[in-house]
Amino acid sequence: MNQDYIKPDAWSIIEEGFDAKRVESSESLFSIGNGAMGQRANFEEQYSGDTFQGSYIAGVFYPDKTKVGWWKNGYPEYFAKVLNAPNWIGINVAINEEALDLNTCKEVKDFVRELNMKEGFHRRSFVAVMPNDLEVRVTATRFLSIVNDELGVINYEVEVLNADAVVKFTPYLDGGITNRDANWEERFWQTLEVNTENDQAFVVSKTLKTEYHVGTYMQSQISLDDEKLQVEGEVEKTEDQVSISYAVKVNRGERIALQKYAGYVTDMNHSKDSLVEAAKNVLDKATTSGFAKLLQEQKEAWAQIWEMADITIDGDVKAQQGIRFNIFQLNQTYLGKDERLNIGPKGFTGEKYGGSTYWDTEAYCIPFYMATKDQQVARNLLTYRYNHLEKAKENAQKLGFTNGAALYPMVTMNGEESHNEWEITFEEIHRNGAMVFAIYNYVRFTDDYSYVPEMGLEVMIAIARFWQQRANFSKDKNKYVILGVTGPNEYENNVNNNWYTNYLAKWCIEYCIENIEKIKANYAEDYARIMDKTNLESEEIAKWGEVAENMYFPYSEEFGVYLQQDGFLDKEIKPVSTLTKKQRPINQNWSWDRILRSCYIKQADVLQGFYFFEDHFSEENLKKHFDFYEPITVHESSLSPCVHSIQAAKLGRMEQAYTFYLRTSRLDLDDYNHEVKEGCHITSMAGTWMSIVEGFGGMRVVEGKLSFTPQLPEQWNSFSFKINFRNQILKINIGKNETTFSVDGNEPMTVLLNGEAIEVQNTIKS
Ligand code: BGC
Repeated sequence: MNQDYIKPDAWSIIEEGFDAKRVESSESLFSIGNGAMGQRANFEEQYSGDTFQGSYIAGVFYPDKTKVGWWKNGYPEYFAKVLNAPNWIGINVAINEEALDLNTCKEVKDFVRELNMKEGFHRRSFVAVMPNDLEVRVTATRFLSIVNDELGVINYEVEVLNADAVVKFTPYLDGGITNRDANWEERFWQTLEVNTENDQAFVVSKTLKTEYHVGTYMQSQISLDDEKLQVEGEVEKTEDQVSISYAVKVNRGERIALQKYAGYVTDMNHSKDSLVEAAKNVLDKATTSGFAKLLQEQKEAWAQIWEMADITIDGDVKAQQGIRFNIFQLNQTYLGKDERLNIGPKGFTGEKYGGSTYWDTEAYCIPFYMATKDQQVARNLLTYRYNHLEKAKENAQKLGFTNGAALYPMVTMNGEESHNEWEITFEEIHRNGAMVFAIYNYVRFTDDYSYVPEMGLEVMIAIARFWQQRANFSKDKNKYVILGVTGPNEYENNVNNNWYTNYLAKWCIEYCIENIEKIKANYAEDYARIMDKTNLESEEIAKWGEVAENMYFPYSEEFGVYLQQDGFLDKEIKPVSTLTKKQRPINQNWSWDRILRSCYIKQADVLQGFYFFEDHFSEENLKKHFDFYEPITVHESSLSPCVHSIQAAKLGRMEQAYTFYLRTSRLDLDDYNHEVKEGCHITSMAGTWMSIVEGFGGMRVVEGKLSFTPQLPEQWNSFSFKINFRNQILKINIGKNETTFSVDGNEPMTVLLNGEAIEVQNTIKS
């Protein structure tokens, strides 16, 4: 059974009623973030039930010493861990000296949580009957400012409903936190300083080993029935913590509230010694503005994001909620402001997937950011990999490659590989292909070729070198083969000739050679610089060409399909529909060896290749492959259903496309994979966007123009979205009987609709 407690709503994620069993799932789903930091939806007040505490700072990590059963040469020394950072949200509440704790209350009534995606805040309200029989109404609103991304704001309001009472708020900062995911149960943080100055408080900490310095800070204001109140605070300090308590005697029905301004400043943006100074600056500005004004600014900033990124769906509130949730989370995770940052698969919603950057960014996220933000944002994401090129070469060197060959890491925070399961770290080399595909995709969409001579070609050369060295000639097959790999389907390891990997290897080499020619012809200076830097000679290029031209691809004459890998047909091929509900997901119910021997595919693999290189294959061919692979795919990676949705739509199978769409867009909200409490699947959310735009909208770039072949799911009345294409903004509305386009500004834009060119002036109907 999937979970179904989230109320359908077009703009909000809503939970009604308190259920302790749902707390950890909701902590993931109601997470907030602003691109620079993020926060699971932990309660501000103390909670003695099961909870997964998580506060995260983008880019700040700890190299947790590798722990494996059997050490294999080439393993990285550490796994980069996303860190649970010092707690800034905590506000303990006591009423007549009894602690408010939802786990010990006699009754919790009218519990409602809302993640207001339109305006960018989280609100929780409830009425609790405490063990001392006091009945209190609480409303807590908080957000992470996207206007000032070092700031978080909370308004915590309490009303005692059945007595006059003393309400004591104890806002605190806590540097004594730990990670759930720690290999050796070590502490990752050291507290350096705990200080207060007037009513401001600071905890300065550093991460061990990586030595990131972080200042966590807070200041509070009190108000009674919305009027400011001066209350003397009482400071308490320990080695890792600081708190300032405010006690106020209130009459029954009066609303007493505490506004807490808090957050992080780090030495990624300030000097180590000026963190307290920087925090004071943020606090002075924030407390002068006050909660209401900061919230107003937050709403306006989110309105701007939505203006460009929103997708509207008329007639299907669950689908609408799903896509908005995905767009919201993507923007909470990465806003494209800082080229040192990237998009972690769990964003700021959990610790799992320790490192920050996977191939997910290049394969899934770039299209979303490219089309909904300034194109510089996608360029930043490409630059991130260029900046890691030397590390990728070192990584390949450690594995025995030479001559400047590069293997990009499976997982990374700073360019170094930080993943250590041999079948993935050493074998899932297809990731290298995604790096090059992203460059191709960027150029195809933006027409900004300048990235290639400036940076991209060097990346391509290093990757071509890798593929040439990684392939070997098989006398038996009279072809080049690539042995011992794991494809995107991680439910099979150490296979030979994974079709997807071989196809990408060939394509990467060919695309690199094409670009060398282009740069030689048109960018003489860059060409000379790059050739000099890479020592590339024509004999070497010829060797690459030989590999690409003679690459081996496993194929079944009987089925007329490329095989996922050598020997795939030796498996017993039985459709997923023959599995019982109890067996699914198989990764939670079957032994690993049973999974490895089965025919079940974790995620799009051959079909992933058909998605990337759609133009290389006929529709008939896609149909054959889809019909072969779709029935045996279990979609136990969140990255899978979107590809299948796009392809089902292309094949005109709208019902199936719609089912896959719902699965990708509501994967977390409905918890399809039974793991949302660990965090949300952020990178696959970009796949949801692709399912609508590329699947139902049929958007492609064809000869430098946007092209659409729209189809409307039966369940919808219409849908609309915007695309920033080469600095022009196109709006598309797809209805039951017509598709409408409009373009911002005075410049017209030519688009293709079902293959026919249309000049969009302002609003044109077809
Ligand atoms: C998928 C990978 C993906 C990773 C992070 C895994 O489950 O199989 O393809 O890169 O999750 O999203």
